[in-house]
Amino acid sequence: MVVPEAAGTLLDALRDHLGVRSPKDGCSPQGQCGCCTVLVDGAPRVACVTPVRRVAGRSVTTLDGLPADQRAAWADAFCATGASQCGFCTPGIIVRLAGLRAKDPQADDAAVGRSLAAHLCRCTGWRTIHEAWAAVRDGRPKGSRDLEAASRRATIEGRTPQQVGHEVALGEGGFADDGAPADALVAVPDGQGGWAVGETLAAARATAGKVQGRRTTVPVEPPLALPDGDWAVTLRTSWVEPAYLETDASWCAPGRVPASPLGNGGAFGGKVHSPVADAARLLADAHGRAVRVLLSREDTVRLGPKRPPIAVGMRSDGTGVLRAVRTPGLADVVRAIAPTITLEEVDVPGPPTSMDARAAGWAELALLRAGLAGVAGAVRSPDGAVAEASVADGRIEVRVACGDPLDEVVLRSYCIGAAHMAFGWVTSEGLAVDGDGAVHDLTIRSFGVVLALDTPEIDVEIVHDDGPPVNGSDAVFVAVATALWVERGCPPDLPDTVRARRGGSR
Ligand code: FES
Ligand code: FES
Repeated sequence: MVVPEAAGTLLDALRDHLGVRSPKDGCSPQGQCGCCTVLVDGAPRVACVTPVRRVAGRSVTTLDGLPADQRAAWADAFCATGASQCGFCTPGIIVRLAGLRAKDPQADDAAVGRSLAAHLCRCTGWRTIHEAWAAVRDGRPKGSRDLEAASRRATIEGRTPQQVGHEVALGEGGFADDGAPADALVAVPDGQGGWAVGETLAAARATAGKVQGRRTTVPVEPPLALPDGDWAVTLRTSWVEPAYLETDASWCAPGRVPASPLGNGGAFGGKVHSPVADAARLLADAHGRAVRVLLSREDTVRLGPKRPPIAVGMRSDGTGVLRAVRTPGLADVVRAIAPTITLEEVDVPGPPTSMDARAAGWAELALLRAGLAGVAGAVRSPDGAVAEASVADGRIEVRVACGDPLDEVVLRSYCIGAAHMAFGWVTSEGLAVDGDGAVHDLTIRSFGVVLALDTPEIDVEIVHDDGPPVNGSDAVFVAVATALWVERGCPPDLPDTVRARRGGSR
């Protein structure tokens, strides 16, 4: 098939003109997540910022175009090590590593980390991706697994149906936009609460008048002031982006059931109430044609729910006042786990908030309790999992008991990912939101997600237990955040960079 020059970017040409769906769109046209990485004459390139005319006459290789034995080896290794969870970032990462392997088959961990700097993965915490590289490099034989049990564990950890298998590593995890028919209309948010519709993504974006998101110099600041009082320990948190890589997407044919935006994972609670599926159904019926509904990275940041920012003071007897951005369900959580705390909910301009965010409320109160005690002990989650973490010499060590592991590879991967997310929440993640509630950090690199090279070593010990399996990674998230916060001297604001920027000391 001949691709017209007007096809736009190489990613548009591959996905929408040629129907090649392994390169993913996690941030176009930002060129910052690496999900769309392909090889152009053997060199890795992000397809979403490569004009298609630039590759005329050159060789373009996607994950689907790798030799079958290589493709199978990467899929085996990513599955065997747990290096792919939702799988949205994985095709781009495999293509990048295949390019590295062609140049330097024995590349060490540091070289792999540098090469992964062009990518973001929100799920895995990177360690297992390094292990997948080593498995391919060393030609390690794959072991046998019960992938049905592995998928059950993934579903428990992701809190929504999730599969484990080679197809996930190959980018075939069932993402909504991958299944859309080629002739579907495309709809994007128009910025006025409605949808701009076009024959192509570029046309819909042009109608909506979209400009590319950017990182600004507006600082990240916790939006709430502390309540007045004589507090033994205090904590203020900022707006934080869930930063799942697959932005919200759905499609629907007239009169049919829309594709779920939860293709292979729960997006850490971020997509539970996504508007895209209902919009796809309504627009398909209105236009009498199939319609793809897509949120760009900027749309996801502006419209997607965040964990509620808080400002809380606690006395040494455990009483205190928690001021929080008004969020349905927050009062129930506080009443259940901290009945001695008075809740003050405040209306603050900003992006929407939700208690669907990972361990929302529970995590913050666990930090305060540990701060009062002066030590991060074991945490027990509402699910019944128990996790404990320690931080020393730049290493994070985690112990978790969450019933029958079902599949240790998957459980370990989710626990490493949760530890990585907790590390980011405490040390670097935050969104700049101004006093009018406008979000200023709109690019995926501006959320503070920790890169492979900056991620500490994370060790996970899984306690053997015959009890019923329950979610363990949320307990790990809270245990690691607690251990890090205490180890850093209980900084009053999160992320801890707020104090560093003001010249505070540790
Ligand atoms: S979609 Fe191309 S780098 Fe993110
Ligand atoms: S597996 Fe990397 S973003 Fe989900």
